Amino acid sequence: MYGVKLLSMGKAVPARNMTNDDLSKIVDTSDEWIKSRTGIEERHISEGETTTDLAIAAAQEAIKNGGVDPRQIGMIIVATITGDYIMPSTACRVQAAIGAVNATAFDVAAACSGFVYGTKLATDAIRVGSCEYALVIGAEVLSKTVDWEDRSTCVLFGDGAGAAIFKKHHKNNIINIYTQSNGELSECLTLPSIPLNNCCVQSERISPYMFMDGRAVYKFATTVVPTSIQKVLEGTEYNIDDIKYFVLHQANSRIMDSVAKKLEVDSEKFVKNLQHYGNTSSASVPMALYDLQEQLASGDPVILCGFGGGVTWGSVLLIW
Ligand code: ACO
Repeated sequence: MYGVKLLSMGKAVPARNMTNDDLSKIVDTSDEWIKSRTGIEERHISEGETTTDLAIAAAQEAIKNGGVDPRQIGMIIVATITGDYIMPSTACRVQAAIGAVNATAFDVAAACSGFVYGTKLATDAIRVGSCEYALVIGAEVLSKTVDWEDRSTCVLFGDGAGAAIFKKHHKNNIINIYTQSNGELSECLTLPSIPLNNCCVQSERISPYMFMDGRAVYKFATTVVPTSIQKVLEGTEYNIDDIKYFVLHQANSRIMDSVAKKLEVDSEKFVKNLQHYGNTSSASVPMALYDLQEQLASGDPVILCGFGGGVTWGSVLLIW
């Protein structure tokens, strides 16, 4: 088995920034309500940038920062629930754009846990010798999936992408990864796909929008995230006090504060950039890690944690 390290990262967001005050001109809401319930102050919203565009831009920056020749990349995984096409995958379109001619490319649908799930697949592939470099991207244009007349969801989300390149390494820096799912709770977060309309059946029109039972999601997240963090530490030489930063999916500031309290960890160790980007689903963990980079020193233990639709959750314990 080979060791793996996170080599480099990239990030991309659409140019248009929208504040809470901007949203209050579209729906009946206020900066005070959004900030106090979620911690979000502003987000980037696509004015035409596609999920693929954002994924490519984040990938190109990670490639540049890592000094990687795209032909060295053996695997490309794009975690997304907002791909521009069901077929081809976003990953295949990224592959073509960056010239990663030797890669196996595919998408992963695990919602806000997508980057953690993708990291698991990519690092497992490197460990067993299937490839030397793997590119994992979380990319979303969630603004196309929300009902812009529904104030309870449209204020929460933003668009963006984060990318990471993992590399075979003599020393292993990806210490442990824990993932789990529970399909029995799937109804609390849904985004419908193409309804059945064929020669046999004409389906009724279904809402094309994302549905969220906010309270059920809150309960789910604040229950599984502390366990997920404890599970990823199990059997390692690290304990919770060794962890320099916790990079959770940026859904909601209150979820992070609740997790910090349950784990009895200083909430300052929980990284927050959702005030600037909102909830960007699979992109949020790599975007938050990207923003944390300047505060990290080589050797710092960090835990990444995703949780979201499916429902899905998982954590990565890595050494920076
Ligand atoms: N502006 C003003 N008022 C609003 C808004 C808004 N944007 N949205 C809802 N309200 C109103 C509601 O209409 C309701 O009014 P009423 O009491 O007159 O009926 C009131 O605020 C309370 O609404 P609730 O939905 O009960 O608000 P709650 O306190 O539960 O907060 C929230 C909603 C923030 C979504 C909360 O449930 C939560 O934090 N859930 C976690 C879910 C989450 O973070 N989801 C992110 C996506 S999923 C994921 O990433 C895994």
